[in-house]
This record gives sequence, structure tokens and C-alpha cells, in this order.
Amino acid sequence: MIKNRSLLFSLGCLILSSAFLCGCGENNTAKKPEVKEEAPIVYITATPTPKPTSTSTPTPRSTNTPKPTNTPAPAVTATPVPTLSVKGIAEYYQDYFPIGVAVPDYAFSVDRYKNLVLDNYTQITPENETKPDALLDPNKSRSGLPDTYYRAAVSFSRCNKAVKFCVENNLQMRLHTLVWHSQTPHWFFTEDYSTTGKLVSREVMLKRMENYIKDVLEYFDTNYPGLIYAVDVCNEAFDRGDGDENWIRKNKNDWYTVVGPDYYYQAFLFARKYAPDYMKLFYNDYGCSGKYNKIIKNLAQAKEEGLIDGIGMQSHLSTSDTVGGSYLLAMTAFLKEGYELQVTELDIGVASDTDYEYSRQARKYKVLFGNILDLKNKGYNISSVTFWGIADHLSWRSDKYPLLFDRSLNPKKSYYGVLQDPSILNIE
Ligand code: GLA
Repeated sequence: MIKNRSLLFSLGCLILSSAFLCGCGENNTAKKPEVKEEAPIVYITATPTPKPTSTSTPTPRSTNTPKPTNTPAPAVTATPVPTLSVKGIAEYYQDYFPIGVAVPDYAFSVDRYKNLVLDNYTQITPENETKPDALLDPNKSRSGLPDTYYRAAVSFSRCNKAVKFCVENNLQMRLHTLVWHSQTPHWFFTEDYSTTGKLVSREVMLKRMENYIKDVLEYFDTNYPGLIYAVDVCNEAFDRGDGDENWIRKNKNDWYTVVGPDYYYQAFLFARKYAPDYMKLFYNDYGCSGKYNKIIKNLAQAKEEGLIDGIGMQSHLSTSDTVGGSYLLAMTAFLKEGYELQVTELDIGVASDTDYEYSRQARKYKVLFGNILDLKNKGYNISSVTFWGIADHLSWRSDKYPLLFDRSLNPKKSYYGVLQDPSILNIE
């Protein structure tokens, strides 16, 4: 685990607003959470290391210590302004589960992005660099024929930076994703690996699938044993009304066209065959609130046969979603079914760039994490939460400002929501 810096959570320190304006605050780059001016003055310092035995959502411990030593002395007639001095989300939740983040490749070349990642997260998902279109090598596959007919060539150069960053900093990596209808090149499915070639048979494609899964898993296990904590074996195989009567994704899905409706099951068979024990095998999907029953039904055989360890809930949410409603129902359903659960792509978009929406967003994050902690306290196996991006301007949903840091990398209210800041209401 990274960081032995203690997470100092000091709320309600009596400090003049003007002290902050002068740049005298302990963390004067941080956006301060709003509280009503009449808020009672309380002093809280905490290293929140809540124990999983408690049934309640952990809150930072209250002490009578008036303030941390490195906080500027309070001014006498000040309006109370809360300060939060936090060193990282991962540290806050370290007794519960690791916290990860999806990182775009260019961020590994920018110090301030790397520092933010190291301060807050202990797991990385390369945003694109371990997807099939990044790992499959078209030129070598074509030029290697006929030797490559059953075994397309792979190349790992595109994920080198992510891997190096993880290894150097003792972070774990999520392998996202092996079998997916999207970001998988059409040429992978044709006789001559051309974009216009004839599609291969199911038998040939199953061999290609097996070799691809084998080569990718073996590469990481051989070169970086222990690095990959979870593998998204299959992403987004089920979708309402997308063709197949069982919600198995049919349209615009080469895997379905060439292999058939059991393609996701086959992927799990091969993944289990080649994955070492420490790589947990996951099915990953979006919109789980609306289809968790279908997911559970369609994965039942793979689960029964021990081919799958967990479900990844992508969790691209909005402030209009009720995280305590169907989202929580979906989580609970997967957990009760005996799956390990990971939140794999969390972001919560706002409806507008307004204070009202950012407060709502912060409450959603607070409630969502509170619910996860409650489930953990009840003994359920939630083993990781990953945010889908570092900061709003780098997000795939940048117009929805869905993350914890703004474009200057200052923490937003949502950040304090994740940290269970008592000044943020615990209601949606
Ligand atoms: C899905 C995928 C992710 C990413 C997002 C959009 O959620 O699983 O890898 O592509 O879409 O960026």
C-alpha cells in the first residue's frame, strides 16, 4: 500500500475567511466545502480507519483537540470556515477496499496528474491501452499468415507506460477488457485479417479467442506477476432489446455474429483455463440497475461452473439517478448471488454547471460510498471502487463534470462527499 501519511481530516477549525483569501489556509488550493454560517463550531481531527465490525457508516472520529498543529491560529472574531486537509481517498478507505482510477495514457507523462493519482489511488485501469484494439497487432497478424491464422499477433507497447507506472509505484492494474463488441477490430474476425475479408467460422474464432486470452494473460503473469488484480473477461454482453431474446448483445457485435450467443461463456472458459489465481475474473457492464436479473440469469452457468469471480458495475451515473434505489438493489442482488463486486467506472455527471448540482453530486457520492460501507459492514464482498478519470476536463463526460477534481486539479465538493465530510448531507 502506498502512503504512510496520515489522513488528516480537520473540519470546523476556527479560521478567518480572510486568512484563506490571504493564502494562509492549510490547503489553500483546495476548494472549501460550503457550510451555513451558523454551523456549530466543531473540531474534528481524524484518521478515519473505521473497523469493518461496525454496522454504521464510519465518520471521522471527533476529538477535543482543537486543531492540528499545522493549522494557522484561529482569529478571534472569525466566521467559522471549515477546512479539510486530506491526503487521499485510498488512505481513507484503506481498511475497506482499494480505490482505483482510470488513467488516459498521456497523463503518465504529466507530473501533476501522476502526483494526484499517487495521492489518491492504489489501482489503475488504463483507459484504453489494454483493450483489444490496443493489443491486437494488425500488421504482424497479416504478415505472419498462415502461422497467425489461429493466433493473431499481440503487442503490449501501448500499455507500457501504464505498466511501468504501476510497477514503479507499487500499484495494481485492472485488465480492461478481453472480449467486447466495441474497440475490437473487425479484421480480427476475417480470414485474411483484412477489414473486408470473409468472416471465419465459429471454430476458427474460438481458437483465436482462446489464443488471444492465453497470450494476454500469460504475458502479464510471466512479466509482471501479481500486477493484475482483476480481468474484465467480458464487457457489455447484455443489452435490453439488442436483438437476442435473452438480451445477449447481437447487433454490431462480431463476437455474436461469428461465435454465437454463448461467446461470453466461452470467454470465461478460456480465461479460467489460463488465469492464475490472483487474477479475479469479472463480467463488467453498464446500466446494471435496469438489467441485473438478466445478467445474473445469463451468467448462471458460468457461475455454477466456477468460471467467474465477480461483477463489475461500471456506474456511469448522473445526479438524477437514485443511488439508494435500483442501483443499490442491483448491488445487493449481485452480492446475494455470491459474486464479488467491484465498482469499475464510477462517475456521476451533473445536469448543469451550478452550485446546486455540485452539492447534489457531492451528496450522491457520499450516499453511494456510505451504502458501500454499510454493505461491507454486513460482510458482503465489495473489493474495489474505481473512478473513471482523474479530473473533469479529462473525463469522457467532461461536459457533465462528473469527477472529484476540477480542471485545476482542486478537489470539488464531490471529493469531500466521497470522504464522508459531515458538512455534506447524507441524503440524495
Ligand atoms: C465503457 C467502457 C469503458 C469506456 C467507456 C467510455 O464504459 O467499458 O472502457 O470506453 O465506455 O469511455
